[in-house]
Amino acid sequence: MGLFSSSTKEVPPIQDVPQHVAVIMDGNGRWAKKRFLPRVAGHQRGLEAVRAMVKACVRLDIKFLTLFAFSSENWRRPPEEVTFLMSLFLEALDREVKKLHEANVILKLIGDRAAFNEALQQKMLEAEQKTAANTGLTLTIAVNYGGRWDVVNAFNQLLQAQPQLKQIQESDLTPYLSMPYAPEPDLFIRTGGETRISNFLLWQLAYTELYFTPTLWPDFDDAAFEAALTSYRQRERRFGRTSEQLAEPKAS
Ligand code: IPE
Ligand code: IPE
Ligand code: MG
Repeated sequence: MGLFSSSTKEVPPIQDVPQHVAVIMDGNGRWAKKRFLPRVAGHQRGLEAVRAMVKACVRLDIKFLTLFAFSSENWRRPPEEVTFLMSLFLEALDREVKKLHEANVILKLIGDRAAFNEALQQKMLEAEQKTAANTGLTLTIAVNYGGRWDVVNAFNQLLQAQPQLKQIQESDLTPYLSMPYAPEPDLFIRTGGETRISNFLLWQLAYTELYFTPTLWPDFDDAAFEAALTSYRQRERRFGRTSEQLAEPKAS
């Protein structure tokens, strides 16, 4: 599957282990509330679940993991919580990048970075540069990310590059979307029980298998991930075709 290949243009290869897993890590606040702790304690524990998930993906040889850490709508939260999340993110960048680098992980950050302060933008850039030549798992963290922003941003970049265009096709746009280096996600996981996309990867999830679990993100452990992967293996990914066609050897 080449760069920029599209599930709506050609049927991607189907494997038992997903190549790309995308996760909405939801339920931190409720995890904390259940324990009579402040919401931010849930975010702190959520970071531990992130570490475990990254390790699991490395172990399972999953090539791409994309995590939704902060949405373009999360600015609507109480300012104290937003501030806490920003400092947790900065701290995590400081502490984890070295370890990620040692684990051969390529770190990428997607989302509108203009909203972050200079120091944080600089740290993000440095982290990406440091890990760019690695060859293991590609870990993408979506911060101040919104699926609609992604598409509009891609359009704007395309228009800037080719202002003469009167009409476009998919393949014109995809190089400008947030994850041109990754195949479309095979498996989407949302923890925390809500069954919505919340403006995550709208374009890229076109043919992704969706998995929703009531498990709260801080409780999402290896066994919970295994359950998601088992569900994924049982899916029939038809990409528009019929079951019968899938059963035929080498049908075109
Ligand atoms: C997800 O957990 C983390 C972020 C959105 C940053 P929540 O904070 O949304 O937790 P709940 O949904 O309130 O339980
Ligand atoms: C989605 O979770 C965003 C992240 C996990 C970063 P939210 O908890 O913000 O989603 P909604 O607003 O309840 O749909
Ligand atoms: Mg939530």
